Amino acid sequence: MQIGIIGAGNVGGTLGRAWAQKGHEVMFGVRQPKTGKVQTLLEQAGGGAKAGTVAEAAAFGSVVTLATPWPATREALRTAGDLAGKVLLDCTNPLKADFSGLEVGHTTSGAEQVALWAKGARVVKIFNSTGFENMANPKYGKGAAVTMFFAGDDAAAKGIAAQLAREIGFEPVDAGPLGNARLLEPLAMLWIHLAFAQKQGTGIAFKLLRR
Ligand SMILES: NC(=O)c1ccc[n+]([C@@H]2O[C@H](COP(=O)([O-])OP(=O)(O)OC[C@H]3O[C@@H](n4cnc5c(N)ncnc54)[C@H](OP(=O)(O)O)[C@@H]3O)[C@@H](O)[C@H]2O)c1
Repeated sequence: MQIGIIGAGNVGGTLGRAWAQKGHEVMFGVRQPKTGKVQTLLEQAGGGAKAGTVAEAAAFGSVVTLATPWPATREALRTAGDLAGKVLLDCTNPLKADFSGLEVGHTTSGAEQVALWAKGARVVKIFNSTGFENMANPKYGKGAAVTMFFAGDDAAAKGIAAQLAREIGFEPVDAGPLGNARLLEPLAMLWIHLAFAQKQGTGIAFKLLRR
């Protein structure tokens, strides 16, 4: 699969590395491709990854992963250009600047806002409800896979998102329509609270149990 990544930081870098190592073609869309940080990321990702501008990465991917800080997200999508028809994996969380809560919620969500900005994109909310360390290694104990909830309105796009989550070790769980990002973004807030405010650390993750 050809995957463009907008925002090659903790989340975008980790997911891109993992997918490249699974044999996908990855292009990181970055503002400064020549930096040491980007070159190191490309070396870690191996031969299946390259870097270009945000617009180039967006054009390259049939799947585009959005992993920008919330305040930069609208601008990043504007720079990306036309995303109509593409699967857009929204990993962002609309965090307040001081991490005390979410900028939007209850009556909308970051994901629904992203869908309005990226007209025609097939948005799936995913990879927002756990830390990037868990994205690098979603297995706990004797191989229990971290649950990765996702939400979206396009069944085929959700299937691709689930497959990409499963390939890197998550247990994907369909959490319903895109509007249910209103549930998944506060879930991320809970993870952040447990990990940082309660100082439980980033080696924690959510798991859906079934009887
Ligand atoms: N950190 C986590 O564990 C985690 C987990 C789940 C979800 N999230 C969410 O995922 C998103 C990314 O988090 P992160 O921790 O990966 O952030 P990060 O490490 O700060 O990386 C953000 C990336 O976005 C790029 N960027 C910033 N403004 C941009 C713009 N206008 N156009 C294009 N690229 C731009 C940055 O590029 P430069 O290097 O050029 O500044 C950087 O590569 C956030 O919304 C966060 O809430 C984070």
